[in-house]
Amino acid sequence: MLDGKKTLFSGMQATGNLTLGNYLGALKNWVSIADEYQTFYSVVDMHSITVRQDPAELRKRARTLLTLYIAAGLDPEKNCIYYQSHVSGHAELAWILNCFTYMGELSRMTQFKDKAAKHADNINAGLFTYPVLMAADILLYQADVVPVGIDQKQHLEITRDIAMRFNSVYGDVFTIPEVYIGKSGAKIMSLQDPSKKMSKSDENPNGSIYLMDDPDTIIRKCKRAVTDSEAVVRYREEQPGIKNLIDIYCACLDKIPAEAEREFDGKGYGEFKAAVGEAVVSVLKPLQDRFADLTKNKDYLDSVIKNNAEKAAYFSNKTLRKVQKKVGFPERIR
Ligand code: TYM
Repeated sequence: MLDGKKTLFSGMQATGNLTLGNYLGALKNWVSIADEYQTFYSVVDMHSITVRQDPAELRKRARTLLTLYIAAGLDPEKNCIYYQSHVSGHAELAWILNCFTYMGELSRMTQFKDKAAKHADNINAGLFTYPVLMAADILLYQADVVPVGIDQKQHLEITRDIAMRFNSVYGDVFTIPEVYIGKSGAKIMSLQDPSKKMSKSDENPNGSIYLMDDPDTIIRKCKRAVTDSEAVVRYREEQPGIKNLIDIYCACLDKIPAEAEREFDGKGYGEFKAAVGEAVVSVLKPLQDRFADLTKNKDYLDSVIKNNAEKAAYFSNKTLRKVQKKVGFPERIR
């Protein structure tokens, strides 16, 4: 509890081009619940290097992502928006938590298994202990709630397990965080293969809508989305392509699937897909315009980066010092 409010932490990797899935599954919810919490939104660049990155590209993407947080509507005066690598406490706490995490539980992580299969030539220790760094991110700020898409749920569960294990040895050191999954948009699927999640790393660019896609591209990608031959707009498992488009439509316009079904009752897929495209443009275009304005103001962004890193360091140090003391590290001499 900080300033009488509960604490919220979340983060995104500065890897690849952000997709509509990242926006609807995470960023949009971050904005809608931000006022209720003391918030920390990190650009998790340390997680990004578990996969090889081009350094100049990573730096550029990290800045783009931080700017997008603001463009999406997070006021950096009220929300602590910062780079993970600027706050050394993340790495320090991760080390300690590594000593409270078992190889067995890490090897059960589905994201590790997927990434290890994809990057078979570089299964590094960082990829394996990735969830421990994530636990450190969250526990460092004593977060009560962590808004994420469904794919991160397992990482939240291990975070809770690590926190409870630590607390059972040393007393109530960490707040046990709750996962927050939005009502809609928690798992946006590929437009070309609705059995796969929409992903930054998809090789087929038509499968994903990127946050920076222009309106014509967005409309075209929606028109080309894979559907079926049922010819009815129904929200059901048997029609995964249509179900996904309904999810996108509803998440963009804050509607529920039954409303979309009623609206498009008796109408063809062409009309429905065009409406989905328009709905996506209606949320992404304002974000893109704000992004373009913000990038013109280098000094402002630099001051946000500096001030918020200091703020994050201040809060994270409180937890870190407490944890260091608990595990028996010698006191600092002032
Ligand atoms: P990342 O960068 O892969 O994704 C960022 C957020 O976007 C959500 N997301 C989706 N939601 C719906 N549909 C999709 N297709 C989709 N794709 C991605 C993710 O669930 C996530 O919320 N490990 C994390 C980053 C992280 C983190 C943290 C998150 C590091 N430390 C601490 C929360 C708390 C990741 O790689 O997310």
